[in-house]
Amino acid sequence: MPQSRDETRIYNKNKFKLGLFGMNCSGGLSLTKAPERWDASWDNNVAAAKLADEAGLEFLLPIGRWHGYQGESDTQGTTFETLAWACGLLASTEEITTFGTLHVAFVNPVFAAKQMVTADHIGHGRFGLNVVSGWNPIEFGMMGVALGDHDGRYDYAEEWLTIVNRIWSEPVPFDFDGHHYKLKAVLAKPKPWWGSRPILVSAGNSETGRDFAARNADCLFTTIPPEHDDLCKKLAFFRDAAPGGQLRNIFASSHLMVRPTRKEAEDYHHYIVYEQGDWEAAEYAFKLRGSRINTWLKADEEKLKARLISGAGFPIVGSYDDAHGFVYQGGAYRTLDVPQLPGEAPNTQLNGISNLGWIAGQVFTGGAWRGFWMVGDKLGFLGPVGAADGQIAGANGRGDIVGCHDAMAGFVSFNLQIPRSGVGTGKFQHAFLRERLAAHQPIQIRALAAGSGRCFSTAARIVRGAHTGTLAQLPLRYG
Ligand SMILES: Cc1cc2nc3c(=O)[nH]c(=O)nc-3n(C[C@H](O)[C@H](O)[C@H](O)COP(=O)(O)O)c2cc1C
Repeated sequence: MPQSRDETRIYNKNKFKLGLFGMNCSGGLSLTKAPERWDASWDNNVAAAKLADEAGLEFLLPIGRWHGYQGESDTQGTTFETLAWACGLLASTEEITTFGTLHVAFVNPVFAAKQMVTADHIGHGRFGLNVVSGWNPIEFGMMGVALGDHDGRYDYAEEWLTIVNRIWSEPVPFDFDGHHYKLKAVLAKPKPWWGSRPILVSAGNSETGRDFAARNADCLFTTIPPEHDDLCKKLAFFRDAAPGGQLRNIFASSHLMVRPTRKEAEDYHHYIVYEQGDWEAAEYAFKLRGSRINTWLKADEEKLKARLISGAGFPIVGSYDDAHGFVYQGGAYRTLDVPQLPGEAPNTQLNGISNLGWIAGQVFTGGAWRGFWMVGDKLGFLGPVGAADGQIAGANGRGDIVGCHDAMAGFVSFNLQIPRSGVGTGKFQHAFLRERLAAHQPIQIRALAAGSGRCFSTAARIVRGAHTGTLAQLPLRYG
């Protein structure tokens, strides 16, 4: 059980934190007519929240939305109000942090402060606030509130937040004489669950939004630009503005379309965007959001609309296996991708490195996994030996290599001996595995001790049938 807000899940040690964004809204973030689009019923929200909680995800973040994106799909046209939503989900979950997203201009701060404390108590200190200054003229019109100018909305948010923070922390009544609010004898009890204010996240992209976050928020929620260099500049832009250590996390929204193969994933993306995409809604969103999205996405109109349709956030479309190899050396990462056929998605997996710098792994190319080893800049590929797929799991500086082939019966492991120069292929030796193979228990060898030459490490995996089975520790020796 946590003893303070700092011990709640959102502040755990995971450097890469995960959450679900926008599940309080019909269609989530996709402007698509595909029948399987998100049905934001209350029961589905509870089911998704429980799954996320049990899976260890850090947070749930709703979208504050009062007006949908029209078209046939009318994404976000049906939404739950986020504070009531957070209360229900905090009562239904155990550990996950749950935010409310408030348009500050639409809610009286005294009322909101008490509502949020109520949510925080329901969740035993797991509530967080996503503070939104707003942008959507139709929503402001609906509330009868003047939209005003961009920076003025942030000034308003700052005053609103000052009041809320005082309500959360001050034990005696206070008067407030601000530009927007003149309040008398303000006091609200109880205080937030831990006695400290709930975690505060601010969403934005602009310089004013950044400075607001730097002064007020624990976390920032922003948009990932398409180019990696632009992302690095953006992160520096936000980090540099905040006092050291204050900005504890930077979140961004992304959507995943993952299928067993890259082709299936790309086909699904095509289906969502081009076969079932609600381009009428995309046109509406594009016009409504105006130049704002161009400044953060920097793409032509067609690409921008395609991104709005697939999920607005950063699209990750691919197979489970799409991967770059990387090596960590001298305090820095560098990618290490093994050559593939032209047009293939990068798919290098590195499995082992020896104390002499031999690297072992596999790459998906030409429709099969091919094991390889590298010695300096010399590359050796495992030849196909009566099997489609092969991998190399470990290599040592003496020239011993272990790995496995995916044969019909499951995995068949082998060792090779490669000259120390690293070139040429060695002789396969399966002898030490005969006993296991006879018992129909092919094994997958995972590691080879680096220094001792001919001893395998004890990690092994027994595989029955294709790719499934029990994990077991299996001491092996050969030679
Ligand atoms: C990732 C992200 C999530 C946002 N979520 C919401 C939201 O739920 N409701 C809303 O009205 N605005 C939302 N916004 C808009 C911002 O709160 C803010 O009003 C807008 O980005 C304008 O500020 P800026 O010019 O500083 O970016 C979001 C913005 C970003 C970048």
